[in-house]
Amino acid sequence: MKKTCLFTLLLFSVLGFSQQKTIDQRVEALLKQMTLEEKIGQLNQYTGDNQATGPITINPNKEAEIKGGLIGSMLNVIGTNHTRQYQELTMQSRLKIPLLFGQDVIHGYKTTFPIPLAEAASWDLDAIALGARIAAVEASASGIHWTFAPMVDIARDPRWGRVMEGAGEDTYLGSKIAYARVKGFQGNLGDVNSVMACVKHFVGYGAAVGGRDYNSVDMSDRMLWETYLPPFKAALDAGAATFMNSFNDLNGVPATGNKFLQRDILKGKWNFQGFVVSDWGSIGEMVNHGNVKDTKEAAQLAITAGSDMDMESNAYRYNLAQLVQEGKVDVALIDDAVKRILHKKFELGLFEDPYKYANLKREAKELNNPLHRKIARDMAAKSIVLLKNEKQILPLSKELKKIAFIGPLVKEHKQNMGFWAVELPEIDYEKHVVSQWEGLQNKVGKNTQLLYAKGCEIEGNSKEGFAEAVAVANQADVVIVSIGERGNMSGEAKSRSNIHIPGVQEELVQALQATGKPVVVLINAGRPLIFNQTADTAPAILYTWWLGTEAGNAIADVLFGDYNPSGKLPMTFPREEGQLPIYYNHFNTGRPAPNENATNYVSAYTDLKNSPKFPFGYGLSYTTFDYGDLKLSKNRIDNSETIDISFRLTNSGKYAGDEVVQLYLRDKVGSVVRPIIELKDFQKIHLDAGETKMIQFSIDKEKLSFYNQQLEWGTEPGDFDLMIGSSSSDIRLRSTFELIK
Ligand code: NOJ
Repeated sequence: MKKTCLFTLLLFSVLGFSQQKTIDQRVEALLKQMTLEEKIGQLNQYTGDNQATGPITINPNKEAEIKGGLIGSMLNVIGTNHTRQYQELTMQSRLKIPLLFGQDVIHGYKTTFPIPLAEAASWDLDAIALGARIAAVEASASGIHWTFAPMVDIARDPRWGRVMEGAGEDTYLGSKIAYARVKGFQGNLGDVNSVMACVKHFVGYGAAVGGRDYNSVDMSDRMLWETYLPPFKAALDAGAATFMNSFNDLNGVPATGNKFLQRDILKGKWNFQGFVVSDWGSIGEMVNHGNVKDTKEAAQLAITAGSDMDMESNAYRYNLAQLVQEGKVDVALIDDAVKRILHKKFELGLFEDPYKYANLKREAKELNNPLHRKIARDMAAKSIVLLKNEKQILPLSKELKKIAFIGPLVKEHKQNMGFWAVELPEIDYEKHVVSQWEGLQNKVGKNTQLLYAKGCEIEGNSKEGFAEAVAVANQADVVIVSIGERGNMSGEAKSRSNIHIPGVQEELVQALQATGKPVVVLINAGRPLIFNQTADTAPAILYTWWLGTEAGNAIADVLFGDYNPSGKLPMTFPREEGQLPIYYNHFNTGRPAPNENATNYVSAYTDLKNSPKFPFGYGLSYTTFDYGDLKLSKNRIDNSETIDISFRLTNSGKYAGDEVVQLYLRDKVGSVVRPIIELKDFQKIHLDAGETKMIQFSIDKEKLSFYNQQLEWGTEPGDFDLMIGSSSSDIRLRSTFELIK
């Protein structure tokens, strides 16, 4: 039996190898037939006529150019029919090289999942991978070959609107999620229900100065290697087919023209075999950066630095041939980029069938199908974070007679999609998205009456609606109020200097609380917002982010306890913008504040506490978890050894629930200073009420390593604190151990 398995394995790897060789050979053979113009065409990506996702640089004669074989890829072409039409044009070109269709499929396709930051709050890697898989199944059925996701930028500043698109502030969690998402999107690349992933934005974008989008990034090599690069490496390890570079300059060199990043690290040290696409117009924008004098120089710099495909700059299309003729660009650079792109087209099977992914029957079956909706609902419930629940107001009883549901987001449909939802032309949002109102209606029985008042707008100063809202609240047993941002207030080009809940919404909450009724607050947002008054006074708060098409149902599931919330914050929530950037895994400094009130010659603000409003990893449950009996197999190890850790986790409350147990370390002394606490592992554990499980972790040298002063990855002997807890600031179990040489 064993022999048969081994033989089959061998056979598969030989077959795999020969297929690989065949693709290489086919790529070489095709390249030989291509003119320089056709080669450059493959490096050229245009937007189609669906909603543009950036400033269109030129409106070229696309049809003729496609027929001429001068375009290799398109984005923003949506739907089977539409992609097919463009592919048919390519089939009229001399070499019939199929077009690649790319799209920002960021959190679902037609079935829209929670925004990525919300999904990250689930800490559920299988669920996150499944969400990406469903997105791939739907997008590929619609003719899409390639998603511009996942975004794996670490983000420590919620003023940056794009925090909604990533996995938050932590490198460890972010790396795990990056891996899961790539696996989910790509499945077995070449299968008809998979899409290529595009890991973005390489690199540093999340550290833009002051959280201003597209801004500069200045960081040490240590910070780059330790904090910002690992999620990209994890995505690469998961087999990511493509990378996207970034708008920002890194230490003065635009990422798009950055040879160190793209050739030395990505394609060199990491041996990445796929291709790199520029961000939208980012090659041309190097002129604005002041790094090159014109688009021609930009093209030269970008191709030399390893940017293979030009998204919407037209820099390659109009300059590369001349640059080759002038001897400024070696044609070998162009050949390398073309080969990388053709390789992916072969891997996807597009040369066998350029319409392989455009299938009307599959499109009709897969988009928005009930199973996908069910999975999206589960994911949405898992993404919600319970921030407060005084006096166990939640879960609500289904026997309540009257519930007032108040706020500007209660009856909204499209808002629930958040930013970066795919704008399919046929979507009727009123029908497609379950509003929060509808979710509640679906949940409660005939004996419960739902009352509604809008109360106020999301923005603006008018309190005209308060009186009606208060009157409605006065009639009810419980008040639920849904407030927050607009769905598109976070996202690309949506940086904000003020991240407080906008308008008079918090005042509305106060007015409703003044009725004396129990008030449950839902906060809808694409980023950590500031809402101190509500946080300090409201008895129950659920952070619901943007949850997608099943938002209303998922929120109702959590409100009534059909799902016990298990989300944990993937970003630190600040008290005020003045604390930004804020993150949990900071250094101790030479003058750490001994307590929250100390200001005298310590590293603190004189007018604000250092601690966050809600810490990284925080989130409550309707039940309680008790941690105990921590055991370490050893307290002293060398580099070749492992410590096995075990502890008891008991569900000590009344409800079944999930706990994300978090393992943190502190390396007490290092040749470079180490964070006061660092996430190194976690598990999401389900326990029935009263149930106990023994939880196991292990610690080996990988978890103890860091980049030393010479930027070499490795360990240093010394003492470590081990902390296990329910959040980064709710540590339940502690121990220490020593690493010896
Ligand atoms: C610009 C964004 O930065 C990038 O993430 C996106 O994929 C492209 N536009 C294409 O829409």
